[in-house]
Formats: sequence, C-alpha cells, structure tokens
Amino acid sequence: MKRLLLLFLTVLLALTASAQKSKKFVHGTLIPPAVEPRIIAVETTSSSLILSVRENGSVFQLHFGTKVNETEFAAIPSYAGRYGNGAPAYPATGGRFLGEPALHLRYADGMHNTELHYIGHETTEAAGVKTTTVRLLDYVTKLRVDLVYEAYPEEDVILTHTRIYNAGDKPVTLLSYASGAMTFTSDRYLLTHVNGSWAQEMQVESELLTHHLKVLEDRRGVQNTQLGNPAFLLSLGTSELSETEGEVIAGALAWSGNWRLSFERDAENRLTVLGGISPFASEYPLKADASFRTPDMIWTYSDKGAGQASRNLHRWARRYGVYGGGEVNPILLNSWEGAYFTFTTETLLRMIDDAASMGLEMFVLDDGWFGNKYPRNSDNAALGDWQVNAAKLPEGIDHIAQYAHSKGLKFGIWIEPEMVNPKSELAEKHPEWVVQSPGREIYTERTQWVLDLSNPAVQDFVFGVFDSVMQLSPAIDYIKWDCNRPIESFGSPYLGAEQDRFYIEYVQGFYKVMERIRAKYPSVLVQCCSSGGGRVDYGSLKYFNEVWTSDDTDGFERVFMQYGTSLFYPACVMAAHVSTVPNHQSRNVTPLKFRFDVAAQGRLGLELQPRYLSSEELAYVNRCVASYKEFRDVVFNGDLYRLGTPYGNDFYGMMYVSEDKSRAVVYTYCLRFRQLACDGVPFRLQGLDPDRKYRVVEQNLGDADRPDGAPVTASCWWGNGRSWSGSFLASGAFNPILPSLYSSAVFVLEAE
Ligand code: DGJ
Repeated sequence: MKRLLLLFLTVLLALTASAQKSKKFVHGTLIPPAVEPRIIAVETTSSSLILSVRENGSVFQLHFGTKVNETEFAAIPSYAGRYGNGAPAYPATGGRFLGEPALHLRYADGMHNTELHYIGHETTEAAGVKTTTVRLLDYVTKLRVDLVYEAYPEEDVILTHTRIYNAGDKPVTLLSYASGAMTFTSDRYLLTHVNGSWAQEMQVESELLTHHLKVLEDRRGVQNTQLGNPAFLLSLGTSELSETEGEVIAGALAWSGNWRLSFERDAENRLTVLGGISPFASEYPLKADASFRTPDMIWTYSDKGAGQASRNLHRWARRYGVYGGGEVNPILLNSWEGAYFTFTTETLLRMIDDAASMGLEMFVLDDGWFGNKYPRNSDNAALGDWQVNAAKLPEGIDHIAQYAHSKGLKFGIWIEPEMVNPKSELAEKHPEWVVQSPGREIYTERTQWVLDLSNPAVQDFVFGVFDSVMQLSPAIDYIKWDCNRPIESFGSPYLGAEQDRFYIEYVQGFYKVMERIRAKYPSVLVQCCSSGGGRVDYGSLKYFNEVWTSDDTDGFERVFMQYGTSLFYPACVMAAHVSTVPNHQSRNVTPLKFRFDVAAQGRLGLELQPRYLSSEELAYVNRCVASYKEFRDVVFNGDLYRLGTPYGNDFYGMMYVSEDKSRAVVYTYCLRFRQLACDGVPFRLQGLDPDRKYRVVEQNLGDADRPDGAPVTASCWWGNGRSWSGSFLASGAFNPILPSLYSSAVFVLEAE
C-alpha cells in the first residue's frame, strides 16, 4: 500500500512538473525592454525619409518623399492595430506582419518568426555622405540586423542595404533578404519598368498597380538585364508618366545576379516596394557568428516628374556609381560588324588606318583573335584558350596595338573570360570548372558553357585571363568584357551539397575578380558587355567604365533602347555605334545622318568596315566625328532632359544641358512620317536658363544618303545660327522641320 502511495505521489509530482514546464513554455514570453520613442530622419537636399521608433521597439517608416520637418512627425500617434501609422521599416516574417517580407528566415528549430527591435542608431559623415545605421535585434533568436541608409544630399539619393548578423549559437537560413523597403501612400501608383530580349533591351512599359503583389524578377544568374532591369520608376497619384510633373520615385539595385523587385499594395492602399537579391534557389545558410551584407538599393525622390528622378540617379552615378564616371571616353572603331571572325593582321591595320583618318581615337579588336588547337573562327570553339591565334595574327597583338598607338589611337581588345566552349583546351583540362548538375546534360547556348565563378580556382583563372591579356602588349588601353549566355541547370561541383550558395557566390566571385582587376589596372577602360546590354546594373558599374547598350545598332531601334536606358543610367556609360545598312540585326535602312544623330547621344563609336564607305560618306563621318568632339563633354557630364517619349509618337527629342547651364545639345528625330505638308515640330526645350541667350547651331549637316536623295545642307530650323533666350526656346517656338521618316537634327546651344 505504502509502495502504491509512493508511486502515486511520484507520478503526480512528475505531472505537475511537466505542467509547470509547459506552462512556462506558453507564458515564457520574452518582452523586449521598452525604448524611448523617437524620430530618425535621413535627409537629402530635397527629400526626407522619416523613421519612427516606437515604445515597443519596432521601427516604422512614416515618410519617404518631399522634404519635411521631422519634429512634427513625432506627434503622430502609433495605434495598437496591426500597423497604425506608417509601415515597418524592414518588414520581417513573424509577429504581426503578414505581407511580403523584406526579411524571412528559418531558424535551426524550424521556426520562421523574426521580430526586430530597436537597440540603437548612429549617424556618421564622410566626404559629404551621411550614413545612418539603425540597429535591430530579435531578442529571442539573437538575430541582429543593421539597416544602413546612406544619404547623398546634393544628388538627392539614398542608398539602403542591410547587414544581417547571426549572433545566435545555431545556424540560420536566409529565405528572403531585401536590400531595403520603402512604403508610399497614394490613390494610384504607376509603375514603369523595362523588359527586353537580345537586341531588344530596355523596352519601356508602364502599368497601374492593382492590389496585391507585383513582382519583377530575373533568374538567369548572369545576363541578368537582358530581359529586364532591376530598376523602376514609380509615379504617385497619376496614370501617366510625366517627365516634368508630379511625384516620382526611382529605384535601382546594385547587383549583377538574380534580382527581385516587389510592389505590394495593401487593403489601405499603401504600397511597399522591396528590392534585393532574388531568393530563387538561394536559401542562404548563415552560420553562428556569420553575417551577410545585402547589395545596395539606390532610391531617389522627385517632385518634378520622371526627368528629375533620372537626373538625380545620373548625377549620383557619375560621381559615385560608375567607375571613372563622367570621364570622356574615346570614340572608337570596333572590328565586330566590320570583320566578325574573318581577319588578318593586314585587315586590322587597314581598319586602324581608316579609323585614324576618320578622326577616331581608339581601335577595338573584338572576338576571333585567340585559340590555336581550336581556332576561334566561329563561336563554336576556343573560349577559354586565351592565346593569340598564330595563323591569323602571326605578328601578335603587340604589333597591332603599337601600330594603333603610332597612328595616335588607343587600342582595345575583347575577352569573354567567364565562359568556355566544349571545344577548347580549357574544357578538356578542367571539366570540373563548368557549371553543371551531376548526371544531367550541360546545355550549350551559343555553343558555350559557363565557368563556375563560385570556385576560387575559377576566380583566379578569370582574373588570370584579364591579367595575361594585358601582358600581350603595354599598349592595351581598353578591354571589352563579354558574357554571352545565362546560367541554366545550375550546379557547382565546388559547392557540393551547398548549392543554395551558388547564385550569390557566383556574383560575389565576379566582384572579387573585378576588385583584383581594379587594384592592378586602375586606369584601363573596361566595357561591360553581355550579348549587348545583358549586364547593365549598378553592381557591375562600380568596376566598368561603360556598357554595350545593345547588339542592335539600328538607329531607329536604338532611339527606344537608349530612351529606356536613360531612365536609370547616365549617358556616359551608354556605348552607341554607327553601323552599316541594312542593319545586321533588324535589316532596317536608316540614313547615315540619322545613325550618327542617334549614336551621338552616348559614347560615340563606329562598327563597320570603313573600306565600304564612299568618299562622300567618309567626308561626312569626319564632320560628324569632329562636331561630336566639340559637344561630347555635355553628353558625358550634362543633365538629361527628355522632351517626351518615343513610344506612340511620330517625333522624339531629348537634350543634355551642362550643369552650369551654359551649353546644351538638343537631338530631334522623326520616327514615323505621316504627312507631306510637314510644318515645324515644336519642342519645348528644358533645363535652360530662361534669361540667358543661347546661340543655336545645327550640327551634322550634309548627309549624302538622305531617303529623298537630297543632301541636307541648310538647317531645318529657321532660327538656326542666331541667339535666343532660354524662355523663348522653352515656349515651343523651337520647331525644326523633320520632313521625312528618319530625318533628324542635332543642335548645339552656347550661352552668350
Ligand atoms: C556579343 C557582343 O554583344 C558583340 O558586340 C560581340 O562582341 C560578340 N559578342 C562577339 O562574339
């Protein structure tokens, strides 16, 4: 009996203990310490971002937009409801947040909840850039997140990124990890973004956002901007994209791999924008004591329409975002469309002679110069074997480069170091360097495979390609870095079971290589090409001087692509070449003048066989090149004003104005011709000083191949050659006659 009683008591004790234990589990909430509510303001000259720290430690964004007085925002009450005023500054899955998260993790115990609490913030300043770091902590999981806001006052740009630090003692998995979040309040949101394909990059489309989630994403691994771009414009309270009016936010992600932009419009009509690395196949493991820095997301706000938003981005890019930004880069002749894979030393030397006689400043030898066991005579062999092809170029590269220098030209050369043809010595030697998935076909595209840049040995190889090509001649001034396919059926032999790291570490590997290149070759010019504009983003532009905007050099198509590019990227990066007709991509025929007038919007170049130009054409080219040299500093460093959109319009114009407003260059085009009785087309010029007088001089007159056969010898504007006030030119009185399809005119304006 005694024994039975003892057993009963023991069981009761055990049950009570377990009940107490589970009771402690249910009620063992860790209440984070209360904090003093406060406002944190991140400011530029004309915009403010207002964050509010609440008593419970949550950090909300109250405002991003026009410049405000932050003190008034302290009076805004925070309701006990799900959000109250504002929206979480960096919404994390967990707690009361049920929307699209900026941050989503899985912890070692399988839980998904993160609740971030304010633990401090600080602002530092260096070289005029103010950096505010808001420190957050999840008290339960010990996850720490720093929200970093870098304010560029003069350019009205704010950069955001986060540092996610696992201060717990178990690994965690990052499922979503945006670079920043911004929330807006309006009744209408017009989203403008770009889509595209090869030879059709940067096609602009706008749409009004409905409720729920809109996602723009790229999953190509590399060539991340061939089909779209991690950049957007958001117009508030309107259904139309205006160049000059209304509130517009621009955003761009500095990342050269998979990206994701999301726009979630909630039941209260708030819109939250997130920008960051795409989490596609990238559940990123973060060990205890490890941290992850997200890439920069670049934001700007304009209350003067899309034009000002683009100008803000451009100014920031020229000063901070582009390697060598704003420096005038040489006018070049590229060998690709003029020679493709078929050339000898003699062919190249004659092209150099012609380039020199046309007043160009650089010759670039494109694809086809390398490979011996497997010569590079087409795109089906030799990628990976970066030795000079002795049959084609027995005298070597130095001979050609020195010849270019002797003619007063710089010299550039093409490489595609991230890729390998199956038919190459490299693929034979290092099959394990190829991106692949065990047991599966390694698909070729353009008969090539991708090298696994997540592997440090491949990073060394890729750096070595650049480095060894630079050793071919001390006269190499420019490298064209190409990248001609996306990643498919991804897999890294190097990463083993940790394939979730692949997409991110490929890009980090690419940046590591570029860091090494820039440390060793700070002044070599490097173009970022990827089948044209397949890698146009602010991640790569930190290392590259310019981009190859598109393989499509048709002047007509380029008007649209360059318009799309100009929404987010400055003219100084936009390589634009005059090529032959019919155009090799579109088969379209446009006048030589039109092709020049379009290419002169960016870094001008030629990409054709000069031998096929007539003597009239050569003389005309000379004139266009000479005139471009006179105004190109305004192209590279001026502010862009788009005078409308080419979409749906017969005529399009745009202009650059020097920062001091003393000089400008204006471009006008006829894209569709519908009536013979063509009066002048009024363009309202922008950005000029209304009170100053500008002498207006038309450029590039005298094209020999206008569609109507008549050389353009007289200006198409009655006011040409005289001086007019900025206000007059802005009134619509500037009305050049563009009398046929593909007629165009370029004017230089000089203040008196
Ligand atoms: C694709 C580039 O976009 C072209 O300009 C040219 O360099 C070819 N590759 C060469 O293969």
